[in-house]
Amino acid sequence: MATPIISSSSFLRFFMAFFSVFLCLSLCSFENGFALAARDTKPHPLPHTTHTVEVKSLLPATTCSPSTKGHNINKASSVLKVVHKHGPCSNFHKSSKTSTTTCDEKYHAQILKQDQARVNSIHSRLNHNNNKDPLTQSAATTLPAKSGLVIGTGNYIVTVSLGTPAKQLSLAFDTGSDLTWTQCKACSATQSCYKQREPIFNPFLSASYKKISCTTAACTQLSSIGVQHGCSASTSACLYGTRYGDNSFSVGVFGSEKLTLTPTDIFEGFLFGCGLKNKGLFGGSAGMLGLGRSNTSIVEQTANKYNRYFSYCLPSTSCSTGYLSFGKGGRSSNAVKFTALSTVPLGHSFYGLNVVGINVGGTKLPISSSVFSSSRTIIDSGTLITRLPPTAYNALKAAFRQRMKSYPLTQAVSILDTCYNLSSFKTVSYPKISFVFDGGLTQELDATGILYGVSADQVCLAFAGNMDDSEVGIIGNVQQRRLKVVYDVAGGKVGFAPAGCA
Ligand SMILES: *[C@@H]1O[C@H](CO)[C@@H](O)[C@H](O)[C@H]1NC(C)=O
Ligand SMILES: *[C@@H]1O[C@H](CO)[C@@H](O)[C@H](O)[C@H]1NC(C)=O
Repeated sequence: MATPIISSSSFLRFFMAFFSVFLCLSLCSFENGFALAARDTKPHPLPHTTHTVEVKSLLPATTCSPSTKGHNINKASSVLKVVHKHGPCSNFHKSSKTSTTTCDEKYHAQILKQDQARVNSIHSRLNHNNNKDPLTQSAATTLPAKSGLVIGTGNYIVTVSLGTPAKQLSLAFDTGSDLTWTQCKACSATQSCYKQREPIFNPFLSASYKKISCTTAACTQLSSIGVQHGCSASTSACLYGTRYGDNSFSVGVFGSEKLTLTPTDIFEGFLFGCGLKNKGLFGGSAGMLGLGRSNTSIVEQTANKYNRYFSYCLPSTSCSTGYLSFGKGGRSSNAVKFTALSTVPLGHSFYGLNVVGINVGGTKLPISSSVFSSSRTIIDSGTLITRLPPTAYNALKAAFRQRMKSYPLTQAVSILDTCYNLSSFKTVSYPKISFVFDGGLTQELDATGILYGVSADQVCLAFAGNMDDSEVGIIGNVQQRRLKVVYDVAGGKVGFAPAGCA
């Protein structure tokens, strides 16, 4: 059979696969999310190796003052505002009647559990690639039970417009996946949409919507990015099915549309998933914006204009805003220091970096660089907490605890095992942490990129160990906070600059 049909049982399987727990998300006020608003407020005896911040700045924000620090808007690039999906700056923030609700540990444990589901799916996806990718061989009717794409709960949201006339859609952006999709109107008839804030996109009211035929390369190449494809028996339209690591999914018609990033940056024929059955914790966003490395991603589809160059800054709190920018723009900032993208493929979508060491408080940890070279490392916008090979994590933890001896350790929160009870401290001093990359770049993390505050009773080192040293390390989004992160994919490099946003 040349064009496999996605059978109804396969659609059913997508449904059945859905067991996500909404427990905390439905109970919590979103604004009590994981804001970590550390700022250097005072000089400290060892300013070169230590951050000193007020403890209360480490705790989730309850009120917000809008960020005044703007981003550098560059004429030759397209800049979108980035907000945290749980933040008061996002449209998704619930009206603040319930803003005094806190879920503290349960809420954070749930967030961290989702994060672990994403990491598990990244690991299992990379393991599949090491052996043989079952998605490339099988017809589109089965989804390997252990495969599954990266989790759908991206934490950061941008707003783009789709269709003619253009309709605004807020999408979670993800450097770990490639397909861009949004919920499409027909899902409401069958009650197969999750709740989103904006009206659901209606392709039938758009003059520029087209279905992609299932016989095209654009359709069949979906399997190379781990997305199932099939053929509608009645219309020969390309059907897609993508499942994320937390059993979120989107199934629908693969189509093309006019994508409007800014009033001057418009892309005709942008390939996207028009999701007819969607489930998951997408936090009120209308879908996903795939920024991965393979050729269905927005990075590839806009390569003629932006030459595979994009950058972002993830805000440090759920109150502040960052940006996602496409294109190099006029000036490149001198402050950006680059390291090479790994040339050895790591799955299809992921951006690999060559980490060789970690510094804590200005001192290089005693970790053999072979620990990093054998596990490899990716940078991911959608993973929250950085994951390290256990050998590296244990060295980091020991050095961090050594320097934090004057603070009382307290119980772990989910995967975070180095937590301090800071309730009787006004300020806290903790060591600076840097990643050392092959080629000489030492990139210091922002002060907000080291700790994860659940409450004053539990402020934790925001790193975790993998199960074993063979699993890939992941530089997560807490550690990217406030850094300007530049992806020069055509130039084969990724760069960083400090204090890119608030
Ligand atoms: C996308 O990638 C696949 C696999 O590498 C390749 O076969 C296909 O030709 C590419 N398509 C485009 C449009 O570049
Ligand atoms: C944290 O420390 C405070 C003051 O020392 C104490 O009252 C509180 O019970 C501690 N919290 C936990 C969770 O241990």
